[in-house]
Amino acid sequence: MKKIHFLVLNFVLVTLLLSCNNKKLTEVVEVPLPSAEEKVTIGNPDDIKAEDGSFQLEKLPYSYDAMAPNISPVTMEMHYSKHYYTYTNNLNKAISGTELENLTIEEVLSKLDPSNVEIKNNAGGYYNHSLYWQTIGAKAIEQPKDTLATAITTKFGSFEAFTSQFKEEASKQFGSAWVWLIVDRTGNLQITSTQNQDNPLMRNAVVPGKPIMALDLWEHAYYLDCQYKRKNYVDSFFNVINWKKVGENYEAAILK
Ligand SMILES: [Fe+2]
Repeated sequence: MKKIHFLVLNFVLVTLLLSCNNKKLTEVVEVPLPSAEEKVTIGNPDDIKAEDGSFQLEKLPYSYDAMAPNISPVTMEMHYSKHYYTYTNNLNKAISGTELENLTIEEVLSKLDPSNVEIKNNAGGYYNHSLYWQTIGAKAIEQPKDTLATAITTKFGSFEAFTSQFKEEASKQFGSAWVWLIVDRTGNLQITSTQNQDNPLMRNAVVPGKPIMALDLWEHAYYLDCQYKRKNYVDSFFNVINWKKVGENYEAAILK
């Protein structure tokens, strides 16, 4: 009588049956499984520092798990410590030794040549994410207050109408994009969007203005949590918008 022994502590036997010239070939591969005690370790955003250069990462005023369950800790960590970190390093390298090296990021964005894809993509990637980290962070669902609340009601009719219009703009995007709430050049609020890592501060912006709120619609922002259901991510984003900070951004933008 045949006895088959399975290794159950550290390995699992995976049997692949391959067909070759009508003969069956059996291949056994040992694949380690994580032990029951092993947990995914989430790091600390304060440990992430950009390499030497003009720009440093925007500090997160919250931990990677602060957005859960709306945005998972794994998504937050990958987004901040890998994607944002890389944009920051690449921006620093791209502008090193150029006339952009000692400018503010807003100045870099307004002066850069949009045909210089290396600088444009990384300067946009740095600025856009820096604003995104500010845009989210609420511990509970909030609504705009004070001056911004009045401006939103004046422009869009109600907060609900604004929310609907912003989500509609997000739903129209194809591929990697950003949706923005901006103060345009006439001082009015506008919802707009840009492709890739472009933003409304760049010379090539169709709707130019000062962004006060940013929604990242790149797959890396939501795919681990929502897969193809980008709408669910947009709904989750609205649950964690830091309206106090967006309001501060608005008041700073209308002073300029
Ligand atoms: Fe992103």
